[in-house]
Formats: sequence, C-alpha cells, structure tokens
Amino acid sequence: MRFFIDTANLKDIEEAQNLGVLDGVTTNPSLMAKEGIVGEENILKHYVDICNIVDGDVSAEVISTDYTDMVSEGEILAALHPQIVVKLPMIADGVKACKYFSDKKIKTNVTLVFSVGQALLAAKAGATYVSPFLGRLDDISTDGLHLIEEIKQVYGNYGFETEILAASIRHTMHVVNCAKIGADVMTGPLSAIEGLLSHPLTASGLKKFLADYQKGDNQNIKV
Ligand code: G3P
Repeated sequence: MRFFIDTANLKDIEEAQNLGVLDGVTTNPSLMAKEGIVGEENILKHYVDICNIVDGDVSAEVISTDYTDMVSEGEILAALHPQIVVKLPMIADGVKACKYFSDKKIKTNVTLVFSVGQALLAAKAGATYVSPFLGRLDDISTDGLHLIEEIKQVYGNYGFETEILAASIRHTMHVVNCAKIGADVMTGPLSAIEGLLSHPLTASGLKKFLADYQKGDNQNIKV
C-alpha cells in the first residue's frame, strides 16, 4: 500500500517524507486555500515546491469545469514537473478530459468519487487513480469502506489498471481498514500516518528497557 499525504502544508509533507514512508502527495483547492496559497502563479510554484520535497506522484487539481479549459489547465499543470498528476472532478467533462490525458500518457486522478458507477467511468476513461472519498461518505452515515470494497471487486472483475486511491481518510483506522481491503493507495493527513506509530505497550516497553539498561552495568558498554 502506498502512502500519500493529503495536504498543501510543506512542513507536514517534509515530516512525512523524513519518516521515510511517503510515496506521494494529493492536494485540492481547499487545502491550498487553507495554507494561504492563492493566485495562479503562487499555486503553480507551490506544486513545484511540493514536487521538490517528495519523490512520488503529486496530484494537482484543475479548477475549470468545461472540457476545453480542463485540457488547457491540465496541460499547464502536467508541464510543471514530471511528478504531476492531473486531478479532474468526476463530471462528464472531467471524464472526457481524463480520456484525453490518458491517451497522451499523462497521469490522472479522478476525484470526488462517491459511487461504484463513477469509479467504473473513471476506469473506462483510463484514469491512473480513482479517489473515492470515504470520510465524506461516513459523514453522511454511509459506509465509505464498503464503497472501497465494491470498487475493488468491480476493478478485479475486469482487470482495470486504475488504482484505488482511498481519499478523505480521517484517522488511523481508515488507513488500517483500507489496507485490509487492499486499496492501492491511501491519502490522509499527517495525523493519520503518524497515529499508526502509537501503542501504549510500545511506549511502556521502551521505558522499561531503558530503565533496566540504566540499572545494570551496561553504562560501561561501548556501543
Ligand atoms: O483527498 C480528498 C480530501 O482532500 C478530502 O478530504 O477530509 O476534506 O473530506 P476531506
């Protein structure tokens, strides 16, 4: 399972990268705005800054909603850096644009996916990634994990190569459950990644090991 971080915060991206487990980054216009990154020039520069921190794919979302503008915008984004993946919304023009980019071998991420039918369309259009938003489904009392399971089944039935990028991950159990289902990638906040570290028995066990070391003659051992 690959780990992407879902943020435009460079410090968080660096922290996940330094942990040694980061495979990519996803962003969206809301995450950019949250970091105060506004205006086309600043946003484009920010994408390049992100690409310079991580080695993997970096999703950059178009804000146009009609096919022609999506294509021009996506081409500008894709030309920024070889790691850029063009992120497109799950609307008819987004599906058309996805087909355009996949025919040109430019990576795509179809976002705002909430149903199996939408995921099927994204795969048919040759999307590199499909992003089902599991947290937002959970928010409205719908089982987000079940959607990931269903997409996995449908893609498996036909051997679609589109990768399931479990998005709108909110916490560690989302990550663990997506891993059990076999989502190819998960994208979530730094807290969901770092939260995987924590276990009280790890903390108490380490405390005891260090205390026992201090009690013994071990202080003199040169390591
Ligand atoms: O990757 C999609 C994500 O940015 C949405 O997450 O937490 O706003 O539902 P959230």
